[in-house]
Amino acid sequence: MKTIIYNIGTLAGILPEGTLKLEGSQMNQIKCIDNAYLVIEDGVIADFGAANNDSVDQRRATNATTDVEYIDAEGGFVMPSFCDSHTHIVYAGCRDGEFRDKIAGLSYEEIAARGGGILNSADLLHETSEDELYRQAMVRVNEIIAMGTGAAEIKSGYGLTVEDELKMLRVIRRIKETSPLTVKANFLGAHAVGRAYKGRQSEYVDLVCNEMLPRVAEEGLADFVDVFCDAGFFTVEETDRILATAAKYGITPKIHANELEVSGGVQVGVKHGALSVDHLEKTTEAEIEALRGSKTMPTMLPGCSFFLGIPYGNAKGYIEAGLPVALASDYNPGSSPSGNMRFVMALGCIRMRLTPEQSFNACTINSAYAMGVSDTHGSITKGKKANLIITKQIPSLAFIPYSHQTPIIKSVLLGGQLM
Ligand code: NIG
Ligand code: FE
Repeated sequence: MKTIIYNIGTLAGILPEGTLKLEGSQMNQIKCIDNAYLVIEDGVIADFGAANNDSVDQRRATNATTDVEYIDAEGGFVMPSFCDSHTHIVYAGCRDGEFRDKIAGLSYEEIAARGGGILNSADLLHETSEDELYRQAMVRVNEIIAMGTGAAEIKSGYGLTVEDELKMLRVIRRIKETSPLTVKANFLGAHAVGRAYKGRQSEYVDLVCNEMLPRVAEEGLADFVDVFCDAGFFTVEETDRILATAAKYGITPKIHANELEVSGGVQVGVKHGALSVDHLEKTTEAEIEALRGSKTMPTMLPGCSFFLGIPYGNAKGYIEAGLPVALASDYNPGSSPSGNMRFVMALGCIRMRLTPEQSFNACTINSAYAMGVSDTHGSITKGKKANLIITKQIPSLAFIPYSHQTPIIKSVLLGGQLM
């Protein structure tokens, strides 16, 4: 099956084959072709270039009867879909009651300390059947697809018992199997200490290492393992132990670190070869030094800073230090109830002072890297999956984050199929 997108005003986000991430000043540019076409074959980008006289319009006339689908981009932008490398979109219900507490002045930590927060979501999830959980999650999956996300990492972490963590991961597997979205599964058993283990944190860590991880590995349910390494949650020593256990099963880490305090999570993540270290609202020079020369992608979640009213990560400082930066939504019921990557891109510019080009690269190729799919996603490159956004006519790339609530997405393709 062949599809030709023609009449493209600007084809944006072109990268050479083999570019898996962009760092430092490499993030300042986006390669574009104006007045372009793009050919998709079997769900993959097969060709693209500048339209010329012998161009698509003519071929369209001569090939009218052949098995080629033509899509008129009507002068809009065509760009790679967003990659959202950090989400928690499998959860039951929501936490709109805590939203009121938050407005009244309670902090994220105070809500959690009162038994709310993650434990509240775990109680709800326990009461919810696997089918119902899948149904609720698919509403969010379809919502983010419509907003231009083509790949997402999804974490467990609202189970906090062996059976409920497995339940979540099976739901993620079912999403992988049934949705056109590219999905990676992340086992986050160490998101909080389960209620039954209150006051017995080290025994809960035993449970994660000795019972959860072996079952997760045995059923092949996780691409990654994660730990919330932060004040009031898991220590560096506990994180070290969980990641060392995961390594025995060959599971790569991604880490929650430095959201609430400078936690040491970045350093322990880098030590274990983490693919990404995420949040980083609070960091110092030591974190930048720890990341230098590593394969770990610093990932920031501006939707969480926005919603909780906490500082934004110092993305600019990281880029100036020559490091790469990825941005992701953190879509979850407690700290970022939105999976709108375009808003994330806008916050990258408006609140983190990234240029539109830097923010675009952080939400596409670098976030693809942070979930291990940048060989097949995150740019316009021959051979990559045709996960694309077609916009209405817009004046520039900067318009995307600038006019951030204007509904500019005209259509979305996943694997070359119009959604
Ligand atoms: O990434 N920080 C830890 N986990 C999530 C929040 C989870 C929740 O509050 O439900 C986050 O922000
Ligand atoms: Fe998170």
